[in-house]
Amino acid sequence: MRAVVIHRPGDYSKLTIETRPDPRPEPHEVLLRTRACGVNYADCIVRMGLYSSAREYVGWPITPGFEVSATVEAVGSAVRGHAVGDEVVAVTRFGGYATRLCVDAAQVFKPAAGWSDAESAGFPAVFLTAYYALRELANAREGEAILVHSCAGGVGTALAQLGRAFGCTVVGVVGNRAKIPVAYANGAHHVIARDEGDWASRARAIAPKGYAIALDANGVDTLRSSYDLLAAPGRLVVYGFATMLPRGGDGRPRWGKLAMDWLRTPRFNPLDLTTRNRSVLALNLSYMFDERALLERSMRALMALAAAGSVRPPPVREFAFDDVRDAHRAIESGTTVGKLVLRVR
Ligand SMILES: NC(=O)c1ccc[n+]([C@@H]2O[C@H](COP(=O)([O-])OP(=O)(O)OC[C@H]3O[C@@H](n4cnc5c(N)ncnc54)[C@H](OP(=O)(O)O)[C@@H]3O)[C@@H](O)[C@H]2O)c1
Repeated sequence: MRAVVIHRPGDYSKLTIETRPDPRPEPHEVLLRTRACGVNYADCIVRMGLYSSAREYVGWPITPGFEVSATVEAVGSAVRGHAVGDEVVAVTRFGGYATRLCVDAAQVFKPAAGWSDAESAGFPAVFLTAYYALRELANAREGEAILVHSCAGGVGTALAQLGRAFGCTVVGVVGNRAKIPVAYANGAHHVIARDEGDWASRARAIAPKGYAIALDANGVDTLRSSYDLLAAPGRLVVYGFATMLPRGGDGRPRWGKLAMDWLRTPRFNPLDLTTRNRSVLALNLSYMFDERALLERSMRALMALAAAGSVRPPPVREFAFDDVRDAHRAIESGTTVGKLVLRVR
């Protein structure tokens, strides 16, 4: 089998492809032959050496990747419910950028009917993130106004689709006007482009009473404004800090900027939170793989929404497996929309 392997953190050249013996499944695992691997912005943070759970669970070398679509090639002796030849989608705590891999059977699911390999591979990570943020954490309710940053990206399109499916009014914010149609096509009711001027004032004008929920993975550049835009009661969901990292360039973090942005990141005062009826919630799904009941419940709910046509795949851009460096360069440009996927065959 072939796998993308990163031996040391750094730029795109650290993504190397190696050939290794095929893995053999443990009793509770299935052996998968990968058809496509989802690419997530978090994979780039792993490559940069800044992803804490990658350091804690794996270290170096590491194969990134949180999701694949695949064919089952062998099943462990204790596995029930999966058979050789099944087409599946699987979530992985790293290791997904590989042409064959073993995965715990509890992390393997039936894909949505009629979706392509690439669409299935790009589904779990962003939709599980969006579902957990909106449903489990923020408890989004019908009629609520929600503010979704990076609304044309992977998680952003999933949030917009789920927000609309839950009956919320979705206001999307995107980095530039070229992304506006994608945000609308994925369910946003209003879309604001940051390159067209003061985004926060326009967001305020759309929801003068404030937002019940704001979902922010930008971090320092938008977090304070997202908090200020909340209604009372209101929930700010923090799930990333992308603006701390270089947009484009050679793929290496800038340590001075990281330090300055860490200092500039807003701190929220419990007295203020209480008085103003605001909550700050946060998540990192990569620490939650052992929450089997949550994973199963969330995937079941998402697959039901997919079967009902309430959610569908965001636009997918495919890269050949060997062009993994181009895929990382693309998502770090900050200009991509929807999902990026590595095509294995
Ligand atoms: N906590 C979790 O469990 C979890 C799970 C999944 C994803 N995430 C986070 O969610 C965010 C979105 O992930 P994704 O995989 O769906 O990616 P994505 O949204 O498809 O792409 C990243 C987007 O972030 C925005 N951005 C802001 N600063 C950036 C920078 N310096 N470089 C590149 N892009 C920048 C850009 O959108 P605009 O310019 O349009 O805003 C860009 O298109 C990431 O921050 C990721 O780390 C967190």
